[in-house]
Amino acid sequence: MQFTFHNPTQIQFGRGQIASVARLIPRDAKVLVLYGGGSIKANGVYDQVAEALKAHQWAEFAGIEPNPTVETLDKAVARVKDEGFDFLLAVGGGSVVDGTKYVAAAACYEGYGWDILSGKHKVRQALPLGAILTLPATGSESNAAAVISRTATAEKRSFLAPAVFPVFAVLDPDTMSSLPDRQLANGLVDAFVHICEQYLTVPTGAMVQDGFAEALLRNLVVLAGQFDQRRTLEWRENLMWTANQALNGLIGVGVPHDWATHAIGHEFTALYGLDHAQTLALVHPALLRVCLAQKEAKLTQMGRNVFGLEGDGIANRTIDIIENLFRSVGVGTRLGDYQLDKNDVLLQVLTALEGHGMTRLGHQRDVDLHTVDAIIRKAE
Ligand code: NZQ
Ligand code: ZN
Repeated sequence: MQFTFHNPTQIQFGRGQIASVARLIPRDAKVLVLYGGGSIKANGVYDQVAEALKAHQWAEFAGIEPNPTVETLDKAVARVKDEGFDFLLAVGGGSVVDGTKYVAAAACYEGYGWDILSGKHKVRQALPLGAILTLPATGSESNAAAVISRTATAEKRSFLAPAVFPVFAVLDPDTMSSLPDRQLANGLVDAFVHICEQYLTVPTGAMVQDGFAEALLRNLVVLAGQFDQRRTLEWRENLMWTANQALNGLIGVGVPHDWATHAIGHEFTALYGLDHAQTLALVHPALLRVCLAQKEAKLTQMGRNVFGLEGDGIANRTIDIIENLFRSVGVGTRLGDYQLDKNDVLLQVLTALEGHGMTRLGHQRDVDLHTVDAIIRKAE
């Protein structure tokens, strides 16, 4: 095992922490606050941000949509370049944080911003950014990844660059009070699958990564079982911190990763507009069933250490429990749950993956189009 672990994002966790941005952003910075469709105006978060920034020079950019598009974000890039902002503050869910990372990187690049997603431009420089998280799910608030869509071509692609790690992330569980159940359930499922993508590969004997991943998975199992307590502070705190730890890099160091579920899921969002977590709930159990042979040892370990299973057939029973867990919080796991037609999905998703060069996915690069075909059929 060999790795470097460096996560530079300062975490400000707990009630009332939005006020701390007043001292975390340099007083002489010219700040652009970026947010989404207006949930922060309705739940009082915007007012707290305005109060915290009262001694700063700042302006705002609203309207970053779920699954943020380059078309919208390039308007923010133009403003940053024209008006000379030098600190970006993202206030929202993963889409706003990801979108702000793109703006931070594209503002330091003279070429066409999509080059960052196509891989033509490697990001080495970005404006500093901070995040105030309002939806625990993606881990984007303290990682180096961003996922951006392009409406014109129905593409959804990601980039990874240490330069876009947020300088700080505010995790105040009170911001979750206005979240609809659908988004709370999405957050739980997204965090669960993030852990699986880094854990359900092959055994490597990495006790820290496996043990921490299993602890986080057990948390999510408990939180799903306590979904009726989702309005309590304790439930929110635990989901917010678990989702953050699921994708801040720690459980993934030095071990193989998969991410095939995410890659296939992104095509479902680009083609059919499904929520990110819905795509994961749809693809992940089916993928585990199709790839059982490669993943059997880790599925068995998970069954024992997370679900307390004993006896025969643990791997298969583990997959059934995972699927039931997603369904128990109301996230559909079958094509019919989203009124999707199998034949249309087979045609569209396979064509899109091929077009995007995504034909060798998974931790052993063996999830090819033939395997994806089988996964889609299994999700019927
Ligand atoms: O736009 P607003 O009005 O804020 O409404 C949002 C949006 O409609 C709403 N919302 C957020 N916080 C709220 C709230 N509504 C009420 N009260 C609050 N406190 O929720 C809706 C969904 O928000 P979004 O940010 O899209 O959700 P999420 O955090 O699940 O982010 C999904 C995006 O992150 C990407 C996904 O692909 C998707 O584009 N991911 C990013 C990752 C990363 N950077 O590491 C990893 C993930 O795997 C994921 O791919
Ligand atoms: Zn995800």
